[in-house]
Amino acid sequence: MEKRLRAAITGVSHYVPERRLTNADLEKRVDTSDEWIRTRTGIRERRILDEGVGTSYMAARALEGLLEQKGLDASDIDLIVVGTISPDMMYPSTACLVQDSVGASNAWGFDLSAACCGFVFSLVTGAQFVESGMHKKVVVIGADKMSATTDYTDRTTCVLFGDGAGAVLLEPAEDGVGIQDYICHIDGAGGKNLYQPGGGSLHPATHETVDKKMHYVHQEGKEVFKFAVSCMADVSVDVMERNGLTGEDLTLFVPHQANKRIIDASVRRMNLPEDRVMINIDRYANTSAATIPIGLSEAAEQKWLNRGDYVVIASAGGGYTWGSILIKWAY
Ligand code: ACO
Repeated sequence: MEKRLRAAITGVSHYVPERRLTNADLEKRVDTSDEWIRTRTGIRERRILDEGVGTSYMAARALEGLLEQKGLDASDIDLIVVGTISPDMMYPSTACLVQDSVGASNAWGFDLSAACCGFVFSLVTGAQFVESGMHKKVVVIGADKMSATTDYTDRTTCVLFGDGAGAVLLEPAEDGVGIQDYICHIDGAGGKNLYQPGGGSLHPATHETVDKKMHYVHQEGKEVFKFAVSCMADVSVDVMERNGLTGEDLTLFVPHQANKRIIDASVRRMNLPEDRVMINIDRYANTSAATIPIGLSEAAEQKWLNRGDYVVIASAGGGYTWGSILIKWAY
């Protein structure tokens, strides 16, 4: 039996707001149509968090669900890593706000900024603390309130995004299950194609930054599409090939949900049967760092996974960032 210490996902939960914003609702706000949105993106509706609460609210609710599922007390958690690009505020970090909200009195934590790769990069990071033997219970959260930075007068972006959060628990495993391998990349040259320029130290908030709409998501959709189609497919194939696996060996592929056409292209490249792909973009749109943990959570709820099953998660997004993780499911 293999003795290497691995980080295994031993629980997963998610939270999405109640309020729905449908394509029909958007037809009333901008010059778009349900037909255009569905055929170009696969999206039918998205969830929107109320004003007055931020990303940490959804992250904390997802974590509470996880604790209940596992029968754990918040004080059992050692570390909280939150992947997000929509923190409640510049600081304190979302991790600090979540720690306080759930009462994780023994945890430390931090936020990680990697846009749509926020969960993938955070999972890789959190896993290091388990594999090193430093921590036994690490919570990794992907959470974004994209509605806070979406311009609802811009039809090219406002149809794409939604709000949500998902949380996983990582624990040590010595019997071969858990995270097997990962491949992550960044390419800052792509930064100009997907960014939010205002609110940082370069362009702090002023009347001018507000007038110029610099606090919203800006995207060169076509460029991002081309990048995502090739990179998410490549990195998913790379992590499988490096481990001697083909699409036939996977029980489930959980891709980032940015556009159904990007997902379809990756699935074709991976030679993966279509019934092994988690797709929920129709209901939630692109929730940035939250798409993958929400997908894993729904797969677990549907009893899609069993111990020993191979799962690949993969994402591509702003930065550019892209990456994939091969997991042997633990429960
Ligand atoms: N409704 C109707 N028409 C629209 C809409 C809309 N919502 N949006 C754009 N159009 C129009 C355009 O103005 C354009 O009109 P024109 O030809 O008269 O100029 C036409 O539709 C075609 O536009 P394209 O940009 O060519 O449409 P495309 O097929 O490329 O789809 C989309 C656009 C859906 C945005 C696509 O490019 C895409 O999915 N890009 C990647 C998005 C993505 O993955 N983002 C990642 C974000 S992840 C993160 O890090 C947060």
